Amino acid sequence: MKNNQARFRFIDLFAGIGGFHIAMHENGGRCVFASEIDKFARQTYEHNFKRLSPKIFENGNFNEDITDENLDYKNIPDFDVLCAGFPCQPFSHAGLKKGFDDTRGTLFFNIKEIVKAKIEGNKKNHKISIPRVLLLENVKGFKNHDKGNTFKRIKEVLDDLGYEVSAEVLNSKHFGVPQNRERIFIVAWYRDIVKVKEFKFPWGIDDDGKVIYDKEKRDERAKNINVGSILLNQDELEALEERDKKTYTISEKLWAGHQRRRVEHAQKGNGFGYSSFNEESPYTSTISARYYKDGSEILIEQDNIPDRPNRPRKLHPKEAARLQGYPIDSWYEIPVSDNQAYKQFGNSVSVPVVTTIANEIKKQLL
Ligand SMILES: C[S@@+](CC[C@H](N)C(=O)[O-])C[C@H]1O[C@@H](n2cnc3c(N)ncnc32)[C@H](O)[C@@H]1O
Repeated sequence: MKNNQARFRFIDLFAGIGGFHIAMHENGGRCVFASEIDKFARQTYEHNFKRLSPKIFENGNFNEDITDENLDYKNIPDFDVLCAGFPCQPFSHAGLKKGFDDTRGTLFFNIKEIVKAKIEGNKKNHKISIPRVLLLENVKGFKNHDKGNTFKRIKEVLDDLGYEVSAEVLNSKHFGVPQNRERIFIVAWYRDIVKVKEFKFPWGIDDDGKVIYDKEKRDERAKNINVGSILLNQDELEALEERDKKTYTISEKLWAGHQRRRVEHAQKGNGFGYSSFNEESPYTSTISARYYKDGSEILIEQDNIPDRPNRPRKLHPKEAARLQGYPIDSWYEIPVSDNQAYKQFGNSVSVPVVTTIANEIKKQLL
């Protein structure tokens, strides 16, 4: 899609490797500013988005640290939608006392200040646009973080800025990717411009690609998928192992350790030490940024596969990409080491979830 056909502008904060970027771009958004601090995530981001959004890499709008004192938020290009999968941090309780900003020192504070700079800028100069929609993402537990105070405070801050707020926990497994990943999505819209009372969240996608709006129906209607849909076939896997001179099968030592810990955990009654899946499993557990360490959260069984060791293997980074819905079989590429790639996909959003939300934002709020 050419930039001049874009329907709205967005900024991509805590951009990681660009899950939001793909989703917004696919829905007609044009990225005007991105920010990511991690050297390796920046590498993946630039590698993949240089063609899609060349300008931000040429005009200094691929920021490194959003807390950088030299970055004047007034100079961030105008935008319509703000995207941010921001790290979750507690706010200071001292903030409850009058006149003290309890979000200060957290990364949410920076989101708020960016939005505020635009709203205040607009008061002085009407040509500066007010951000219409904010799309924030966080872990499921965010809602109960610090006894619910963090979430409550964020809602208050957004409300004070002039936004209506709606939030729901969505699961990737209802959006066509075989992963049990629950994340909270917060959608906020500027009430004086977007005259909408409620945002109808998409709860999943059915076999025909239609959006499921009824939460109760999502298990029954969501697209039927299994772990087999993201796995490389045996020939592909072996060809990659051969090419890269490595194996994804875990070592005997690691396997022994996983099994030993499973027994210990079972004796203590606190669940499993590792989780394994095969192609018929409906979904895997959540891939996390720690996946590179020992892969214990998602191991792929190889028991009855001819010519393969009798131990499980880790996901190939390409499979991790598919598990997060990245277009790795068409244009998206991984320019970093396996360990960095696991970390990046584990930290990321599931692209089909965000693409679906982005489409609803476009239809309902823009
Ligand atoms: C949970 S991840 C978000 C991943 C992203 N949504 C994606 O699709 O890949 C949070 C990201 O925030 C980045 N980050 C943390 N502090 C930052 C800062 N001060 N400035 C810019 N990025 C930061 C981290 O490096 C990490 O990649």
